Amino acid sequence: MFDNIKKKSVKRLTSTSIANYYEQSRKSIRWKLGRSQASEDSLEWMIPKPSWRNFTLQELEAATKKFSPAKLLGKGGHAEVYKGLLPDGQIVAVKRITKKEKKDEDRAKEFLSELGIIAHINHPNAAKLIGFGTENGLYLVLQYAPNGSLGSLLHGNSKKTLDWNRRFKVALGIADGLKYLHSDCQRRIIHRDITASNILLSEDYEPEISDFGLAKWLPENWLHHVVSPIEGTFGYMAPEYFMHGIVHEKTDVFAFGVILLELITGRRAVDSRRQSLVKWAMPFLENNNVQGLVDPRLGDDYDIIEMERAVSAASLCVQQSTDTRPNMSTLQGGAYNSKIIRGNFKIHLMDQLKFQIEFYEFNDFSWFLE
Ligand SMILES: Nc1ncnc2c1ncn2[C@@H]1O[C@H](COP(=O)(O)OP(=O)(O)O)[C@@H](O)[C@H]1O
Ligand SMILES: [Mg+2]
Repeated sequence: MFDNIKKKSVKRLTSTSIANYYEQSRKSIRWKLGRSQASEDSLEWMIPKPSWRNFTLQELEAATKKFSPAKLLGKGGHAEVYKGLLPDGQIVAVKRITKKEKKDEDRAKEFLSELGIIAHINHPNAAKLIGFGTENGLYLVLQYAPNGSLGSLLHGNSKKTLDWNRRFKVALGIADGLKYLHSDCQRRIIHRDITASNILLSEDYEPEISDFGLAKWLPENWLHHVVSPIEGTFGYMAPEYFMHGIVHEKTDVFAFGVILLELITGRRAVDSRRQSLVKWAMPFLENNNVQGLVDPRLGDDYDIIEMERAVSAASLCVQQSTDTRPNMSTLQGGAYNSKIIRGNFKIHLMDQLKFQIEFYEFNDFSWFLE
């Protein structure tokens, strides 16, 4: 049974799906360029042909020492990820899809969707695809992230605390990556599973959004999807998604707010008594008690202005109502770039919150960026 589905899906996957994504991108760019009379030549120059490799099982086994437990980098709800070494010396991460509870057909469909999305994106703060494998299983071959996941760095057994400089850099990078997914890439994407374990860290601690297993395309004029079943990670799910299955770009914004709280407090999104971090943090946020939130492991070793910005951004992102939650462009790349995360202003936290909520709807503050 699986063989059948696999063959059909794989055929579609290798000869049609990837080619389709590629062709669609070319067409949409050709259409946009058409308006500016760009030539086919410039198109060829702008969109390189994809170079993802189709790995045989033998190649993947050789790279990972037959998926040796010693090479296991991590395990999520849907996959096992192994460190691999290619013959040319490149280190990679091989993601072997498990999803044991799913039907073969669903598993193949979801694999194609994850592959299509990760092949489509291209941003320094998003995971990079090297290739895939479909022989006797479903595999993604990804660029290796030497510093592992944010979850293991923040909450793992290491005695070394992630310092504030790095935490703040991680916050900025995730915000950039999310803004790209939501509004800057050719086809908009909602990730749906932004969590600390799905943020990977490069050699120099640049964050990369990874694990697009639940991600959804958002058609141009749509504001949201309604999905079922509701899948995601407890502690990060926005109320409208958790209760009604509404997937909005602000669903990711809520999860980003939870990650900000993890970076600020050093606490997990859900603690050992299953209490959510958002609930724990709310009294501190409401009383503007920044000191009460800060991870005691940081001591005084942080920039107070950056910390206040991170707290005010977190506070906005975890608002219960989607209307008062900003989108990533507002929060990061556009009007509030200077206000919320990056800028030079120091405004009292509550004033800042009021200020944003009042103004981001009515004003264009792009001049602040100058
Ligand atoms: N490219 C990578 N480099 C290093 N570690 C990785 C990489 N991709 C995944 N991992 C590790 O494997 C874990 C599970 O991977 P993920 O893609 O999130 O799988 P799942 O879909 O099962 O959640 C991650 O939390 C991380 O620890
Ligand atoms: Mg994951």
